Amino acid sequence: MDHAMVMVSGTKIGEEIGTGRSEVWRLIQQLRSLGVEVEGHPATGYQLRAVPDLLLADVIGPLVKGTLFTQIHHYYKIGSTNDAAMDAAAADAPEGVVFLAEEQTAGKGRCGNQWHSARSSGIYCSVILRPQLPPSDALVLSLAAGLAVQSAIRSIDSRINPDLKWPNDVLIDGKKFCGILTEMNAEATRVRHIVIGIGINVNQRNFPDDVRDTATSLLLASGSEWSRVELAAALLKSLDREYRGLLAQPGAHEAILRRFGDGSSYVRGRKVRIEENGGFEGVTEGLDARGFLLVRSGDRVRTVLSGTVRPLKG
Ligand code: BTN
Repeated sequence: MDHAMVMVSGTKIGEEIGTGRSEVWRLIQQLRSLGVEVEGHPATGYQLRAVPDLLLADVIGPLVKGTLFTQIHHYYKIGSTNDAAMDAAAADAPEGVVFLAEEQTAGKGRCGNQWHSARSSGIYCSVILRPQLPPSDALVLSLAAGLAVQSAIRSIDSRINPDLKWPNDVLIDGKKFCGILTEMNAEATRVRHIVIGIGINVNQRNFPDDVRDTATSLLLASGSEWSRVELAAALLKSLDREYRGLLAQPGAHEAILRRFGDGSSYVRGRKVRIEENGGFEGVTEGLDARGFLLVRSGDRVRTVLSGTVRPLKG
């Protein structure tokens, strides 16, 4: 890459990689189809114009050295990184393995929803964790993943102030740009493995009809393109910090709940509709000790175990 921007003949490239000019031409065409901008042709030689922002293991790996997340699998196209991670975990893949995709054809959201996963414009990332925690702590871990997203975004652009919507949405100006799907395989008292799947809308300029009014991307919110590589690395580093903190620090569980409350405009005093079991309306009253949302509805405080929180005016 030191001399990437000079014109190099096909013969010279062929000599360096031990092949002929026609094979070099074939490889150049392949690179172009992956989005690498290469000028020229066999008669003139080739010149690299731009390297795409691909989430390649060789690129992200060195940026996350020293974290738990150095074993990275990258896919140009996959059904769902969460499914791949759950399958790998069931087949004994170790803690810390990361699955990153340029595009998902069956991206999954919470509550059976779909996660739109357009090619090379978002980050679609799943990690395998094997915490020695009871299954009831999975929610706190999932809330910690939201905090990790929030701090990764802020570390790159401190002007952006992401809001957390319980349990796992990350919003900017009331619109969602990130969702987290935590899946688990557990016994009654012991987690076997957890997969945390994070989808971030990074450089999308538009969205399909069903989410057009409610979704945003970092590009739309900030007015400029983001490096997915930089953000994916920042995300894995933040996630590493949150996870290690949760496992090692006494009082970390409570600290995560407190920080989630501080980083969310939804956790207290917000008029909401809860779409679960027929739905109900009320005003949020904080999180309980396990991380479930408390909502005052009439004269009782109800504990929200799952479902979707919708903001109401007033
Ligand atoms: C939601 O808000 O409903 C959760 C969305 C989670 C999407 C991510 S993208 C990476 C990982 N793979 C999936 O299939 N889903 C998660």
